[in-house]
This record gives sequence, C-alpha cells and structure tokens, in this order.
Amino acid sequence: MGVFPLMWAIHVGCVVLSVSGFVARGGLMLAGSPLLATRFVRVAPHVVDTLLLASALWLAWAIGQYPFVNGWLTAKVLGLLAYIVLGSVALKRGRSKRVRAAAFVAALATVGYIVSVALTRDPRGVFELLG
Ligand code: HEM
Repeated sequence: MGVFPLMWAIHVGCVVLSVSGFVARGGLMLAGSPLLATRFVRVAPHVVDTLLLASALWLAWAIGQYPFVNGWLTAKVLGLLAYIVLGSVALKRGRSKRVRAAAFVAALATVGYIVSVALTRDPRGVFELLG
C-alpha cells in the first residue's frame, strides 16, 4: 500500500486540473481574451503537467509496467504527446480561429481517449467497445 493512494490521487487530481485548465484557456482563446497572456495562466499548466507526468512515472514504476513495454502505457504516452501538440496549436500556434477551434476539439477527444485507456488498461481504450 504505502504512498500509492497518494500518488494515484495526485495523478488523477492533476488530470482533472489539467483538463479543466485547458478547457478554461480554450474558452479564453475563443473569446479572444487578454487573460490568456497572464503570467499565472501561462505558468500554472506547466506546474500541473510536471506533477502529472512525475506521478505517472512513479505509478508506472510502482506497478512494474512501463511505456514501450506495456501497450496501454505506450498509448498513454503517445496520447499525451498528441494532447500537448494539439493543445499548443489550439492555444497559440493555430493561424486562424477555425484551426485553433478544431485543434481544441481534437485535443479534448484525445484526453477522452487517454482516460478510457487508463480505465480499461488497454491501448484500444474506448474503441475496445467496437469488438
Ligand atoms: C493526459 C494524460 C493522462 C491522463 C488523462 C491519465 C489518466 C489516468 C487516470 C484517470 C487514472 C486512474 C485509472 C484507474 O485507477 O482506474 C490513471 C492511472 C494511471 N496512469 Fe495515467 N493518465 C495520463 C498520463 C499518464 C502517463 C503518460 C502514464 C505513463 C507513464 C500514466 C500512467 C498511469 C499509471 C501507471 C496509472 C495507475 C494504474 C493502476 O492503478 O494500475 N498516466 N491515469
């Protein structure tokens, strides 16, 4: 047992903070709000995402399953990379609001997939239901 429940709670807590923060920043982006450039709004996600990743690595070590060894953890890491790239297109790189909005929706779909992989511990995640 030990600190596993604590690390699990930090991981899942950071997932909730990361996704709700991303949704909030997406709202600011769509509204064209200057708040998006605020120091707190720019720095807080890095703190949350660093804790998210650190707790992820700790959990993986604790259960003895690893990305590029166990398929579902590989899927989570690749999904996380896709979420980061789509997220940065949505919040800054996208040239037009259409592109940014599309990347925003795709990033949210990606997180949904990652959560489904976490819950099923299967790289197919929600697509497992297709049979
Ligand atoms: C945005 C990215 C991520 C999301 C949304 C996410 C989501 C979750 C959720 C919801 C759980 C709880 C599942 C459960 O207890 O049934 C979980 C557990 C876990 N996650 Fe993540 N995660 C992410 C990134 C990662 C990454 C990159 C790794 C791999 C290095 C990872 C490794 C783990 C491990 C090892 C567990 C514990 C599984 C167990 O209890 O057997 N996570 N994750």
